[in-house]
Amino acid sequence: MALNDFDLVLFGGSGDLAMRKLLPAMYARELASALPATARIVCVGRHEWSTEEFLATVDATARPHVKNFQTEVWQRFVQRIVYVPLNATESASYQALVAALRHDPHITRVYYLATPPHLFAKICDNLAANGLATANSRVVLEKPLGRDLASARQINAEVGKVFSESQIYRIDHYLGKETVQNLLALRFGNILFEPLWRREYISDVQITIAEKLGVGNRLGYYDTSGALRDMLQNHLLQLLCIVAMEPPASIAPDAVRDEKLQVLRSLRRFTPTTLAQNIVRGQYRAGHVDGQAVPGYREEPDAPAHSRTETFVAMKAEIDTWRWAGVPFYLRTGKRMAASLAEIVVRFKQIPHSIFPQPTNTFQNNCLVIRLQPDEGLKLNLMAKTPGDSMRLKPAELELDFRETFKAPRMEAYERLLFDVLRGQLTLFMRGDELEAAWDWVEPILHHWEQDESAPIPYTSGTWGPAASSALIGRDGLQWREEALPED
Ligand code: BG6
Repeated sequence: MALNDFDLVLFGGSGDLAMRKLLPAMYARELASALPATARIVCVGRHEWSTEEFLATVDATARPHVKNFQTEVWQRFVQRIVYVPLNATESASYQALVAALRHDPHITRVYYLATPPHLFAKICDNLAANGLATANSRVVLEKPLGRDLASARQINAEVGKVFSESQIYRIDHYLGKETVQNLLALRFGNILFEPLWRREYISDVQITIAEKLGVGNRLGYYDTSGALRDMLQNHLLQLLCIVAMEPPASIAPDAVRDEKLQVLRSLRRFTPTTLAQNIVRGQYRAGHVDGQAVPGYREEPDAPAHSRTETFVAMKAEIDTWRWAGVPFYLRTGKRMAASLAEIVVRFKQIPHSIFPQPTNTFQNNCLVIRLQPDEGLKLNLMAKTPGDSMRLKPAELELDFRETFKAPRMEAYERLLFDVLRGQLTLFMRGDELEAAWDWVEPILHHWEQDESAPIPYTSGTWGPAASSALIGRDGLQWREEALPED
């Protein structure tokens, strides 16, 4: 589908996200010849720069993040960029933006708010006050989308005064990842899985997003956030929704988002007692990652010496529906872990009866592993007969490597999501009620931790988190996938 002509306005246009992700993503669209000839990118920031000065920064800061750099394409790309200095909280300064934009109702206008969330309302008000919140406009909201239910509601209400829900694009970049969309394809493009995708056949589900990285230079933000807000409330819950939702009637935005919302609303709420039993929080200490010594969280530059911010969370969640009653969903995320990976593991139940001789045959549960990163693909563990004269079964793997199978260039998450915003496709964005339902569910945990004097459990950098995380799943007679894998 050819894109309509557009003006893309980046608030926070000189910021880290614009330089690392958004401008490189737009360059990738340029490289794919997917941008209308006259489409423009209007970067808005506080510095009093000319467009020329700004482009020098783009060259130095954004260009190193571009993939497949081609001089000619880059030159064509930067010609689209205009810089407008603006104080986001001052209505009068928006006149510069009024002057920079094209006022044609047929041109799509996108305001991408890559700013701290406390500015969202002010920016929307000022856009409206200056006649810029037009019917052909869309607004994109970057995370963090609040820090609790009240602040998320406030964002929704204030942005909602200016833009209708169908104009609001709330980003969760995990939904832009190819493999997440492939999960939709797997579940709803095949007859195989759906009959088995339920409590009668599935024993448990594990969802892990692990990072080797520490907090880096984001401590100021991270220390007031922590892993629950930073990763679990959004990325992990979105993955859980896609695994657990009922089949939507179509891929239309509200068909999909209605079903995701039902999952969020069916998550069993934690009480102080169940929470203490089913959630482990940790904080990394010094250790080694890839053979390099790394400092502990509290030794990171500017870290409070007694910070109680969690850098790791593991939990056992349950979904109270007919389909999922009694099936544990183990969720886990952490920084400074042993590996960087994101994966979903669906473990099926044991066969009801073995016709094969025991004890030569021990059965492993069939297991579907959906790998989001680093290598995108699927693995299905099956039992197969080993060659020879006896009936001896062993686990074997069916593997689908997406990069091997589909050689076509892939879109990075931000490229895909920006493209969807520009073409008005809302399916991969969170609706306001979804956002609130996710906060509503995590809020008792946040409250409990605020009141609880104890600190997160320390774990050594370069490991899989505190031993209590293995104990959490071990209590149910299970293991995290990497613990269950045979040693190489
Ligand atoms: C972001 C978090 O949303 O996701 C970061 O704020 C985290 O803390 C990042 O590092 C992980 O994303 P990805 O795509 O690298 O797995």
